[in-house]
Amino acid sequence: MRKKVTVVGAGNVGATAAQLIHRLGYADVILVDIVEDMPAGKALDMQESAPLIGSDAKIIGSNSYEDTEDSDLVIITAGIARKPGMSRDDLLLTNMNIIGSVTREVVKFSPHCLIMVVSNPLDAMCQHAFEVSGFPKHRVFGMAGVLDTARFRTFISEELNVSVEDVHAYVLGGHGDDMVPLVRYTTVGGIPITELLDQEAIDRLVQRARQGGAEIVSLLKTGSAYYAPAASITEMTEAILLDKKRILPCCTYLEGQYGINNLCMGVPVKLGANGIESVIEITLTDEEKAAMDRSAASVQELIEVMNKNRPN
Ligand code: NAI
Ligand code: 2OP
Repeated sequence: MRKKVTVVGAGNVGATAAQLIHRLGYADVILVDIVEDMPAGKALDMQESAPLIGSDAKIIGSNSYEDTEDSDLVIITAGIARKPGMSRDDLLLTNMNIIGSVTREVVKFSPHCLIMVVSNPLDAMCQHAFEVSGFPKHRVFGMAGVLDTARFRTFISEELNVSVEDVHAYVLGGHGDDMVPLVRYTTVGGIPITELLDQEAIDRLVQRARQGGAEIVSLLKTGSAYYAPAASITEMTEAILLDKKRILPCCTYLEGQYGINNLCMGVPVKLGANGIESVIEITLTDEEKAAMDRSAASVQELIEVMNKNRPN
């Protein structure tokens, strides 16, 4: 029997991820949204591509969580983007309410699933879903580091005119302007990039990776990135469905690792069929540790705003 993957939120990210996961053929996919009939329409359109892409997996769209029952993995992309007149905190609190209500439905119908959070602000939403779900920490995690790392790898491969396949990198920390690209662990064909690029070029590429989301928003004008985010979700989904035990940067609840306590943030993990199977602690320099602490402080600020606004 094929695994069952639910994608909540059938917007740009959710629908694109659903299409890529359906194409893999390893899992049946349920696409859920609050907009009437829209997820059913998108899913039917994708199902009709099956003979062309050679996927025997089923994909359906629904407005009801009953169809998501007993999912193995639920990917949450539901939420709103910031609109004119809205503060960052307004976005945080609106999406906090959406993620809270979605998570309660997910837990009710799929009490044994893994939850991958994608909605922004990512680290805070991951923490909220973790707390609302009551699941153990290895079963609730967030996607951001894979995307941030893919952007950094893309820019390095373009700068050096080499295959993206040979560029390995790590971007840790929160999914914000103070994310932490680990230059020391960034290699091209096993060679540290410090041997191939001067400091000016490295700083420029780090800065572009940090601003990667904003660069796409400024070009699209009406929304944010979704092709690379959907590919990142799919890479994590494949690691889980095939129990690949990939070492990937994922957002997870930290309890002392990297000196960070009770906070969801991006670190290298082993990702497999059980979700986050372990957190990998690498030694950081004082400078890298200070950057992780700054990133943690930004996430903590959001958690405090959420804590003040939780319903009693
Ligand atoms: P979108 O606006 O295209 O889609 C969001 C969808 O969520 C809409 O179809 C909407 O109807 C649905 N929705 C709203 N409330 C819902 C609810 N209660 N239940 C079910 N569905 C609901 O937005 P897009 O571009 O797909 O982005 C989705 C989220 O992912 C945003 O928060 C965005 O910031 C975030 N994102 C995160 C990334 C990451 O690296 N973690 C990368 C890209 C986007
Ligand atoms: C991005 O990095 C919006 O978080 C999203 O593109």
